[in-house]
Amino acid sequence: MKFLQYSVLPFLLVVVILSLSGSTLAHSHGDFLHCLSLHLANSSTISKVIYMRNNPSYSSVLNASIQNTRFSTPATPKPLAIITPLKTSHIQSTIYCSKKHGLQLRIRSGGHDFEGLSYVSEVPFVILDLLNFRAVKVDTKNKVAWVQSGATLGELYYGIAAKTKTLAFPAGICPTVGIGGHFSGGGYGMLIRKYGLAADHIIDAQLIDANGRILDRKSMGEDLFWAIRGGGGNTFGIVLAWKIKLVPVPAVVTVFTVNKNLEQNVTKILHRWQYIAHKLPDDLYVDVGITKVSSSQAGKKTVQVAFIALFLGVVDELIPLVQERFPELGLAKENCSEMSWAESVLYFGGAPRKSLDILLDKNVIPRTIFKAKSDYVKEPIPESGIEGFLSMFLEKEADFAAMLMVPFGGKMEEIPENELPYPHRAGNLFQASYIVGWRKEENAESGKYISWIRRFYSYMATYVSKSPREAYFNYRDLDIGSNNISGYTSYQQASIWGFKYFKSNFKRLVQVKTMVDPMNFFRNEQSIPPLSSP
Ligand code: FDA
Repeated sequence: MKFLQYSVLPFLLVVVILSLSGSTLAHSHGDFLHCLSLHLANSSTISKVIYMRNNPSYSSVLNASIQNTRFSTPATPKPLAIITPLKTSHIQSTIYCSKKHGLQLRIRSGGHDFEGLSYVSEVPFVILDLLNFRAVKVDTKNKVAWVQSGATLGELYYGIAAKTKTLAFPAGICPTVGIGGHFSGGGYGMLIRKYGLAADHIIDAQLIDANGRILDRKSMGEDLFWAIRGGGGNTFGIVLAWKIKLVPVPAVVTVFTVNKNLEQNVTKILHRWQYIAHKLPDDLYVDVGITKVSSSQAGKKTVQVAFIALFLGVVDELIPLVQERFPELGLAKENCSEMSWAESVLYFGGAPRKSLDILLDKNVIPRTIFKAKSDYVKEPIPESGIEGFLSMFLEKEADFAAMLMVPFGGKMEEIPENELPYPHRAGNLFQASYIVGWRKEENAESGKYISWIRRFYSYMATYVSKSPREAYFNYRDLDIGSNNISGYTSYQQASIWGFKYFKSNFKRLVQVKTMVDPMNFFRNEQSIPPLSSP
């Protein structure tokens, strides 16, 4: 069967494309373009779909969604072209032409990959950016929605909130995160204890595979449908859209933030939190954010621990519950605010609650330079251990560092480890993640900040999961292992990082990959390899 139905375009069109792309192109570059131009419908489409390096809009399209500016320096490898498809046939053509001309394809939805893998590669590559695939269709009657991968979480939440206050979706906190990468790696937010992950609520999907076939749940089969719900993006195909089940929430929810610092006995409170947070009723989620702040003593710094909560109910129910279960927190009514669930997303993102339109702003979260890592904790960390990591925040490299502790229990305790590729379920008290940032002008000294977070990670080793030391795929960390980007990667080599992200689900992911993409067309430094690839 022919890969695509297309009619050969007039020679004139090819001339237009090649002139758009400049005359000093490398051979494969020009061949790729020529190939793509033959497959696209007309020249007006082409100017909206292909951005070559000499196109005046190339840099702005490239940088539009780069969240970690560690990967937008002059030294960062740049794509030969950015393709922004308007329809599925453009995606099929891009697959066909990049395969034919040996170019690597990087798929980008929201551009939030911690290691920049959706827009950086060490080998010649093109970016397929789904920025035009951002439709959100919410059906409140059936409590479902279809959302395209290029939409942001904010656009999804806005789409739900525009129709109802009593439905929500259990995905991430940051409204600028893209649906495509987020759902592909699991995706969690403040509803994790009540409802689990975003991936737990996907009921259908539309995917284009390495052969350009458009598949839905039925035609892709349950193995592939299992793999795309958490087994990572850029491995099994390009997911165009997801059908999701919405979840009920009350019209009024309550949020609070209580800050404690080193001078306020915070070690003891944090120690208690570990015994309490995962056992609270599912309607209450209390996480922990740790940062360095100015102390009340002039010129001094302290460490602040913020206890941040979402309660699916009103404040008058919340206060007695917290006073009974977590009295050490000293929660008072003035710490709490009632609002709708969608407004709570703005609250947790630190945005003003004036208008939900902010959810649509792709620049609401400032772009930063950072390195991050993650862990899972199964036993409470002793007070001495907590004191140790809190004191590391007083080091000078930790001015822009943070640690987040996300309580598990609730729904996460009920879902079997192999239900989806995401394996970190029962038995975890919390997920811990660490991030360090620095200023752009300190880029030349980035090594000292990266050393700090690696030391922090080494310190935590005593207190976190072991064999494997588990990590969250969506908090991508190339320190834990990597594929060979241009050659064969053995199962053993990929197992080093694969078991940390997926535990024994990694084996099934490799089987699915071997079945659906044996030539390993969709690949990156942490994509699942097939059992034997070229
Ligand atoms: P991006 O476009 O960079 O893609 C990430 C990966 O998925 C890449 O490998 C890419 O090739 C692949 N991919 C993207 N679209 C695809 C598609 N349509 N088909 C196939 N593969 C595709 N996580 C979380 O669980 N909860 C949270 O609250 C947050 N919050 C958060 C805040 C901020 C500021 C950042 C930077 C990140 C988070 N994350 C998070 C992590 C986030 O879930 C993770 O980085 C996602 O992969 C981002 O998805 P994007 O589509 O934005 O990334």
